[in-house]
This record gives sequence, structure tokens and C-alpha cells, in this order.
Amino acid sequence: EKANIGVVGLAAMGAALSRNLARNGNTVAVFNRSSWRTDELIKEHGEEGKFIPAHTLEEFVNSLEKPRTVIIMVKAGAPTEAFIQKLADLFEPGDIIIDGGNTYFKDTMRREKEMAERGIHFVGCGISGGEQGALLGPSMMPGGPEESWKKLGPIFESIAAKAEDGSPCVTHIGENGAGHFVKMVHNGIEYADMQLIAESYDLLRRGLGLSPAEIADIFDEWNKTELNSYLIEITAEVLHHVDEKTGKPFIDIIKDQAQMKGTGTWTVQTALDLPVPVSAIAEAVFARGLSERVEQREEAQKNILAGPTPHVELSDEEKKAFIEDVRHALYASKIIAYAQGFDEISEGARQYNWTIDLGAVARIWRAGCIIRAQFLNRISDAYDSGEITSSLVFNPYFKKSLEEAQNSWRNVVAKAALGGIPVPAFSSCLSYYDALRSDRLPAALIQGQRDLFGAHTYGRVDKPGVFHTLWAEDGQHEVEETR
Ligand code: 6PG
Repeated sequence: EKANIGVVGLAAMGAALSRNLARNGNTVAVFNRSSWRTDELIKEHGEEGKFIPAHTLEEFVNSLEKPRTVIIMVKAGAPTEAFIQKLADLFEPGDIIIDGGNTYFKDTMRREKEMAERGIHFVGCGISGGEQGALLGPSMMPGGPEESWKKLGPIFESIAAKAEDGSPCVTHIGENGAGHFVKMVHNGIEYADMQLIAESYDLLRRGLGLSPAEIADIFDEWNKTELNSYLIEITAEVLHHVDEKTGKPFIDIIKDQAQMKGTGTWTVQTALDLPVPVSAIAEAVFARGLSERVEQREEAQKNILAGPTPHVELSDEEKKAFIEDVRHALYASKIIAYAQGFDEISEGARQYNWTIDLGAVARIWRAGCIIRAQFLNRISDAYDSGEITSSLVFNPYFKKSLEEAQNSWRNVVAKAALGGIPVPAFSSCLSYYDALRSDRLPAALIQGQRDLFGAHTYGRVDKPGVFHTLWAEDGQHEVEETR
């Protein structure tokens, strides 16, 4: 018997994905550069399904049925590149190579083109959900040629997470880099969601002086509301956790320097190029960056920069209501962050000529991935209802939620500013909302400045055309129509 799918790279993610495939009726060829991992997988989990272990790449390729289909699960960058080339050399036209890592979508586009020239289908596939997800059901975002989906569809559907309604969390996102693009934005949204939750924690901790255990209970409660999500759930778990060695709350023994592997940065860089304002995601990336500016932070502690000792000014009776305000502010900001992320997907699709069903994207994020949440049902419903015009925020449900949260949201941002608690994502989301609402933006002034110092021209509100004013030093200005 030959394998209908192969996996290259058997570290945590690859091994988990292979087991998931085997457990769900696939015959899985497995290969790892150092063969002890292959042997270990077979020894420990060989009875979970049908595996065909291989110790050379040739052996591996020969054990695959045609069209040969292989998922590469090695480190992004050079190791992935090397395996793509090696496999391509052994493959025939019609065979399929899948890159299951977090690869930059432009690299995927380049590779698909290269492989297409050799007749090989190349599929960049975003896979979310970590090791647990890979084993028990990830959310999968495959791009690549439409034709490859005929073979991949049933295999991926057999292993993907199932949403509440039973539908598998995978869909063919679009051609070439579309899958990795959508996974990239998923991660950007993940960054924003995590930052918003972190700011909520800070407001409750330093603002209200609550203990990690008390805050954990609050997040447990919030998880029963419209905020219900995996990230809220694990936030409560982290905050409940006590460090065994010291007996201290675990949160207090973790270094407050947030690291990142680059997908959030790509999301923002790509958004800048498109351009689409994803301010919440940008603030989340910058907040991690600031947390790692150790030298500056230490210097700030030495000659403490003036300002209030972080707190939120409230009477005891007001504290309860403020906790609710933070919950509303978190929900409203989350709506903005997701709306911005979906804007980026929509604009990316336009620019790169992909047909992406945004409702389907929301649907496959309902389970398996890191940002899985009840909330995504709302987004898919909104897209499916056809009620969305140019942004998610105009959908009646989200519009109403933003309106209802508004007073709380403003109160939280104002109190945070007065009490010296940084809330970059909360405040940027609120400013985005207010900017979008504004009938006139001060952008008019910027156009005036640009025209004065650089003759960059401006448009007029009262007639079409492109104008430049001859800014004279004597104050005698003349308007000139340039085009
Ligand atoms: C997922 C995650 C995953 C990534 C983490 C960590 O969807 O399963 O996004 O792909 O490893 O998000 O990313 P950072 O190290 O950049 O925080």
C-alpha cells in the first residue's frame, strides 16, 4: 500500500499533524532529516493509524501514491526552501508540495510560480492552533492552485477542527499566496487581541489594585459573555497559575518583555504597503517592541519620568462598574481590531487578484486556531447576511455593539490617561472609531501644509480638479489649477 500523504519534518508540529492524519484514516509517509525522530514517532504512536516510515528522501517519495502529496513542516526560511528543492527534483508534474509553516506570502507566491514552471502544484498553507491544534484539529488556510484542492480538500477536511455546527475549519482560501496571507493577518489579529487583553489586565491590576487570582476570576466570568474565546480562557488560566518554586503568582515571575517571531510585523508592513490602517495591530507590535527596549526602560526607572503613580481614580462603589467598563471597552476595541484585519484581507485580495470569501475566513477561524471565539460566528453571519458595506463596523450588530460600549470605552481611555496607565491599543481603536465618524478630518490642514512647503497640490470641496496655491511672502496668494 502507498501513502496518500507524506509529512517531512517530525518536530512537535509535524509529528502532531502526522498523527492527526493517521488517526483520521490517511496512510501517512513520514520522514525526518535525523531519523531518530521518525523511529520515535513510530515507536510511540505507530499503532494510532497507518504510517510508512522512511529513512531516505527517495524511499519517502517512492512510498507515495500519485499525485504525490507532501506537507513540509520544517523551520521557515532556509530549511523549508531546501526541502522544496529536494522534493521538486524527485517529483513529477501534477505532484503537490505543501508548505505548512508561517511563511511570508510573497515567498509563497514566488515559489508557486517557480514550481508551476516545473508542473508541480505548490500550496502555501497556514496552520493555526499550535501543537494541540495540529494533533486534535487545526484551523487550516491553504492557498495554491485550485486544482490541488481536489486532492487536498478531503484530506484536510478529515483533520481540521470542527466548528460547533460540525463543519471543518478549512477552505481553499484562494490561489498562490492567499493562504499564507490570510494566516499572516490571523496572527496580526492575534497580536491585537492579546494586547487588548493585556491592557485590560493592567487596568485591573495596577489600575484597581486587584490580585492576579481576582482578575483570573473576572476573565472566567467574561468568558461567559460575548468575549468568549480561547485567548480569554487561557488568560484566566495563566493568571490563576501560581509559581511552584516561589509560591508567587506566575504572572509576577515572568519577564515583562514580549517576544515575537515576525508574522505580526509582516502584517503591519504589508498593511503599510497596501495601504490599509491596521492601527490596533501596529500598536500591538509596537507595544511588544517597547517592552523589549530594556535599556530605555531601565533608564526611565533610574530617573523616573514624571507622572502619576499608575492608578485609576475611583471610589470603592465605582470599582465594580469600572470592571464592566473595561469589559465593554475590550469588546468594542476587539471589533475595531478585527474590522481592520478583515479590511487588510479584503484589500490584499483586491491587490493580488485573489477571490477570498471573507465569511468563509471567519467560519474557519471559529475553531482550531488561536483566535477562535464565539465572536467569529457574528462576523461570518455578518458577511453571509450581505449587510456589510465597506467595513464590518457598519454591520447592524457591530454598529450597535460599538454604540452601546461607547461610554464605557471613553471612560476607560480617559481614566487610563489621567491615571498614567498605557493603553495604546484601546486608545488607538477609539481614535480610529472617532476618525471614521468625523465629518471633517484635519487631513485638510495637512494638505494645506503640503501645498505650502512642497507645492504638493490639494483638492477643493467646491469643485473638481487639482489645485496649487502660489504662496507669496507678502500674503497675496493666488490659486492655480494645475490639472
Ligand atoms: C498559531 C500561532 C502560531 C505562532 C504564535 C507565536 O496560529 O498557531 O499564530 O503560528 O507560533 O502566534 O507567534 P509569535 O512568536 O510571533 O508571538
